[in-house]
Amino acid sequence: MSVTTFSYPKLATLRDVAAFRAHCQGHNIALPCDDTLLDKTTSPLAHSIVIAGRSLSNRFAIQPMEGWDASPDGSPSDQTIRRWQRFGLSGAKLIWGGEAVAVCPEGRANPNQLMLNAHTKPGIAHLRETLLKAHKQATGDSDTPFIGLQLTHSGRWCRPNRRDFTEPRITFHHPILDRRQNLAPDYPLLTDSELRALTEEYIRTALLAYEIGFDFVDIKHCHGYLLHELLAGHTRAGDYGGAFENRTRFLRETVQGIRSVAPGLTVGVRLSAFDFVPFRPDSEQGGRGVPDMAEGSLPYRYGFGVCEENPVEYDLTETFQLFDLLSELDIPLVNITAGSPYYNPHIQRPAYYPPSDGYLPPEDPLEGVARQLEVCRELKRRYPHITLVGSAFTYLQEFLPYVAQAAVREKWVDFVGLGRMVLSYPELPSDLLNTGTLQKKLLCRTFSDCTTAPRNGLISGCYPLDAYYKTRPEYATLLALKRTNRRK
Ligand SMILES: Cc1cc2nc3c(=O)[nH]c(=O)nc-3n(C[C@H](O)[C@H](O)[C@H](O)COP(=O)(O)O)c2cc1C
Repeated sequence: MSVTTFSYPKLATLRDVAAFRAHCQGHNIALPCDDTLLDKTTSPLAHSIVIAGRSLSNRFAIQPMEGWDASPDGSPSDQTIRRWQRFGLSGAKLIWGGEAVAVCPEGRANPNQLMLNAHTKPGIAHLRETLLKAHKQATGDSDTPFIGLQLTHSGRWCRPNRRDFTEPRITFHHPILDRRQNLAPDYPLLTDSELRALTEEYIRTALLAYEIGFDFVDIKHCHGYLLHELLAGHTRAGDYGGAFENRTRFLRETVQGIRSVAPGLTVGVRLSAFDFVPFRPDSEQGGRGVPDMAEGSLPYRYGFGVCEENPVEYDLTETFQLFDLLSELDIPLVNITAGSPYYNPHIQRPAYYPPSDGYLPPEDPLEGVARQLEVCRELKRRYPHITLVGSAFTYLQEFLPYVAQAAVREKWVDFVGLGRMVLSYPELPSDLLNTGTLQKKLLCRTFSDCTTAPRNGLISGCYPLDAYYKTRPEYATLLALKRTNRRK
């Protein structure tokens, strides 16, 4: 049996920016990258930008990062509060959603996902206040960050009652994912009337977020969760499937409903702007990821922003159509991401080391970063009036500042979104803006423990670098689990 060899360098082994650029050029990886970092007075990362009438004085956004650590009733726990406090300490002026917050109990991704309702409202208000206090303490600024709440229903990936038991709420049958999830051909779909009722849950939750004082809500359309799946419902019949107008009905009606109850609340969308077919580890290639193409799955009519004939390429035709609609709906703020952490994590959160349910990278993870940024750049070029947050910067590690500075200056993105990096190194934005240097020992090296832990029923966090998690009982469990996986 032939084993394909593949290798890509660890970024920490590249000597300097010149070596990083040479690596990218040598492998046709198109990333913007500056040679030197500018100081706060001239850096594009410190250029102000106006969103919904508010001037924000830097270009860092904290991405939504869930911890699987809320209380069973949906209120924040001490760990949740600590995470939001650290988001505040970053000094970033845009806080995208904090983390996914379920609009109803059955839509939770895990039994410890935050939920917003009348009972949990004070707890979630406290989260926001904690973040604001930490931001002020860290920056001394009087201008507050622009803070959103990410509203979600986890659809196919719901686990509302047990961490180890999925209770999928699906909108169409997917030949590959249904097989993986053992869903029978007659497994029930969410009905049109259930979807209509769910619109009301989004509107109700958005109003609560507005009353708390959040500046915006994100109607989350990404990562394979319910509203992202609806965009891909080409094969669904009825009011919410088939034609583009039907697949975007939920979005239109939710936005209109929110505007009618909370006219002052800004609405944003986090969007998986493109997708690929699900991937699986290939044992013949040492566990490397390969497309999981079930017989009969071509043309691939089960994704959004993906080429139907070759579903390992993106096709932005409908993404542009969606952006036309977002423009009509006057949505000023979109956060660009891709795919799903459940079925093609390498396009969503590029990593050197895969999570326990993943596969070895099928490409240099830098290609995953470049793909997301290239799509963001194209969208920015076509829709300059929409403020765009770019994702997947963490893998860049020590080269993140050089790429981030160039990406903002060359208008590939308006905001540099930071995900995994802020779990290990929340102060990165303020260190960079104030001192022009990074604390290398805190850089996320993409070990994927923050994904492996929740996939195995543990709380998330940066186990390798955040000392807080090393003192917790989950640390020993995670180490034992990784040891067992290595032996397999
Ligand atoms: C532990 C963990 C939790 C996450 N939680 C969310 C979430 O609640 N909502 C969301 O839209 N994305 C979530 N993401 C995705 C990140 O926001 C981000 O898109 C991804 O990590 C890639 O960015 P990065 O390279 O900066 O990490 C999560 C990612 C990780 C690793």
